[in-house]
Amino acid sequence: MKKIALTGIKPTGAPHIGNFLGAIQPALELAKTHDALYFIADYHALTSVRDKVLLREQIYSLAATWLAAGLDPDKVTFYRQSDIPEVFELTWILSCMAPKGLLNRAHAYKAATDVNTEAGHDLDHGIDCGLFYYPILMAADILLFSCHVVPVGQDQKQHLEITRDIAQTFNQTFGKILTLPEPLIQEEVKTVPGIDGRKMSKSYKNEIPLYTTSKKLKKRINQIVTDSKDVNDPKDPDNCNLFAIYCQFATAEAIAKTRARYLTGGLGYGELKGELFHLVDTFLSAGRARYDELMTDKNQIDIILAEGAEKARSIAKPLLEKVRKAIGVQKP
Ligand code: ADP
Ligand code: TRP
Repeated sequence: MKKIALTGIKPTGAPHIGNFLGAIQPALELAKTHDALYFIADYHALTSVRDKVLLREQIYSLAATWLAAGLDPDKVTFYRQSDIPEVFELTWILSCMAPKGLLNRAHAYKAATDVNTEAGHDLDHGIDCGLFYYPILMAADILLFSCHVVPVGQDQKQHLEITRDIAQTFNQTFGKILTLPEPLIQEEVKTVPGIDGRKMSKSYKNEIPLYTTSKKLKKRINQIVTDSKDVNDPKDPDNCNLFAIYCQFATAEAIAKTRARYLTGGLGYGELKGELFHLVDTFLSAGRARYDELMTDKNQIDIILAEGAEKARSIAKPLLEKVRKAIGVQKP
């Protein structure tokens, strides 16, 4: 029996290169050796997106991105979180097993309360319960499908620890029903930096978008921030986000050559930006055509997601039934 892999991405903005290299591509690689379930975490996005037209568009854009990147819906169970009502019932059950203190320490909530403390506001000023419950919804996403591995970025590691904690409490109380998942963090990708050198993230607005036009891609790559060294100045490859992004796309041989040219001088940032643009543009061109096709015929996406939801629910229903029986709300 193959092991089960599961992951979700929030439709919170146009998918970027960090999402692609850090999440989508490794997940597709993993699907070759695992039974894979990949989904669009649209209810997680509701913690931040409050525009219904935008949310809809972003759901489609993310679905089209997965499909354009090579996800085969006949092989991977591909669905939308909001199409699986069992997730939300399990969320409540798990919340009753989750110590509040555990969630107080979750990074996103803690960051929000730290901002309030610094500003002299009430600890929970402006914080919705959705943000606080976020890790439990994620635990339900994962535990409902008895998966073994969850490919995620470094930033999601704590959520996996919380998921395991909650599952352990449940199993100790009601019997071993939930499978404890392992995070799978790709070492060589870790965190892709954005154009300003911080982690590439929609929240920092420093991202390089994926399936955009060549023209926009070029413009964005030219905006990568560097220091003001001249062509002939020696440069430090280990402290340069342009070089770091380049390393995600170039071959080992090209990286070694570029590193040497950085150290000796003679390579201008403009030249390397041009080279990076060609690498990224070529890398994305096949997927871009498929992405555009899907976005102009969204009906195709609806059909794929509806079929995926049906497959996912056929796994979710029996597990939730087991849970309901174990806790006593359903007859054994
Ligand atoms: P963002 O930070 O842009 O809002 P998300 O939090 O929606 O991105 O991340 C979706 C997935 O992509 C997660 O698995 C996350 O770990 C991964 N990811 C996001 N940004 C990066 C990055 N800069 N480098 C590597 N992986 C990333
Ligand atoms: N919280 C994840 C993120 O921000 C998205 C997500 C929701 C997820 N549910 C999940 C990831 C279940 C893996 C498994 O990136």
